[in-house]
Amino acid sequence: MLNCFTTEAGEDAITITVVTKSSFADWLKSQPNSIQSWIKASGYLGKAGKTLLLPPVEEGGSISVLLGVEDNRDIWSWGAAATELASGTYSIVGNIDQATAENAALGWALGSYRFTRYKNPNKNPPKLLIPEAAALPSVLNLVEAVYFARDLINTPSSEMGPGELAAAANDMAGRFDADCSVVVGDDLLRDDYPMIHAVGRASVRKPRLIDITWGKPKSPKITLVGKGVCFDTGGLDLKPSSGMLMMKKDMGGAAHVLALGQLIMANRLDIRLRILVPAVENSVSGDAFRPMDVLKTRAGFSVEVGNTDAEGRLVLGDALTKAVSENPDMIMDFATLTGAARVALGPDMAALFSNNDQLAANIEAAAEDCADPVWRLPLWQPYRRFLDSDVADINNAGQSRFAGAITAALFLKEFVSDHIPWAHFDIYGWNPAKRPGRPVGGEAMGLRAVYAMLAKKYKG
Ligand code: BES
Ligand code: MN
Ligand code: ZN
Repeated sequence: MLNCFTTEAGEDAITITVVTKSSFADWLKSQPNSIQSWIKASGYLGKAGKTLLLPPVEEGGSISVLLGVEDNRDIWSWGAAATELASGTYSIVGNIDQATAENAALGWALGSYRFTRYKNPNKNPPKLLIPEAAALPSVLNLVEAVYFARDLINTPSSEMGPGELAAAANDMAGRFDADCSVVVGDDLLRDDYPMIHAVGRASVRKPRLIDITWGKPKSPKITLVGKGVCFDTGGLDLKPSSGMLMMKKDMGGAAHVLALGQLIMANRLDIRLRILVPAVENSVSGDAFRPMDVLKTRAGFSVEVGNTDAEGRLVLGDALTKAVSENPDMIMDFATLTGAARVALGPDMAALFSNNDQLAANIEAAAEDCADPVWRLPLWQPYRRFLDSDVADINNAGQSRFAGAITAALFLKEFVSDHIPWAHFDIYGWNPAKRPGRPVGGEAMGLRAVYAMLAKKYKG
């Protein structure tokens, strides 16, 4: 059990009374005068995400807490409560519906997350008595997946290189009896992954392709591909220090597909799952790939390197080619691919690209439903011209700085067949500032949305 939950209330549990903007006034009227004046004096208005400690109504009684929430779809107010409240045990009073119960547990847990690898939190997290109306296992699976993604992203590159990422993937796969194989170093050349090798070869930490498969052979085939750049210096076209600072998180796409895979397997969706993660460090050395090098690809065409900092699309290109080769029913990739997606959408929203309107609509609907926002951007084919190369079939960066997220997505599209429904998520994978339920640091973005979309279709 996560240490932010308990299954036994005990005598000193503090009750939480849930109010909404519309229920607050009536609730207030039903309270004794002493409580009414306490609330008035505190200026508390029942706003979503705001907590207020209430004194005992009578001598020797117990204190309680008021929590404002938006409605039964609200997750984040519960996350706020988990960070605001003191250590102790809390139980929700009154009858709450299943949605409220599950969103309460989800938000509480997401808000309680701490990255504890190097430092212990300075308080014990407040514990929530699991509300009976919640289907606990499915909430816990969701929480564990998000924690897994956050932990992977938060771990510094010194301890989350390509080898460690492969070990984490292998470990996770083992827990679900999935197969996991890894192609390492020069074997990438033997097995025809030239771009993964080229991007990763400068690092003393060898590049690799992680390959996980799980599920019944006859189930619908879904393949997830995640960008696993364990540190992105920019390569020889080196990033400035400000741009390099956060680049331990450049394996965020890999973290997302591993966490999503874990969630799919934990809930035993009726899917034949495959996860492909090219894991590399985009490093600098005498053997680094260079600007204007021309790379071979697994797909057979040639790529001119306009910029070694556009490395994600290169490693993803070979992995997508592998994904396409077994003609799956759906391919989804996650990648911290472009700064341009962040300029367009800011840190909160995953940029979604898709060659299939139905798939995109399903993802958008699920995203709206579970407060995990995505925003679709166009695969605007005319901008393919920005990637024209004089010497090769395509350039990885091109001259123009226009529409950087779109040109990156168009580059990936070159490796995908039009008849395979494909979604590409250009994510940030990081909370730059704390928000309710979302502490600073690594974050899963679009993961809950995609899982909800899949669960709706493939729940076994
Ligand atoms: N990993 C970066 C993209 C990135 C940067 C994501 C900052 C989130 C925050 C990626 O490898 C990259 O460097 N992209 C370049 C591409 C350009 C050279 C065509 C970019 O976006 O500037
Ligand atoms: Mn880069
Ligand atoms: Zn990168």
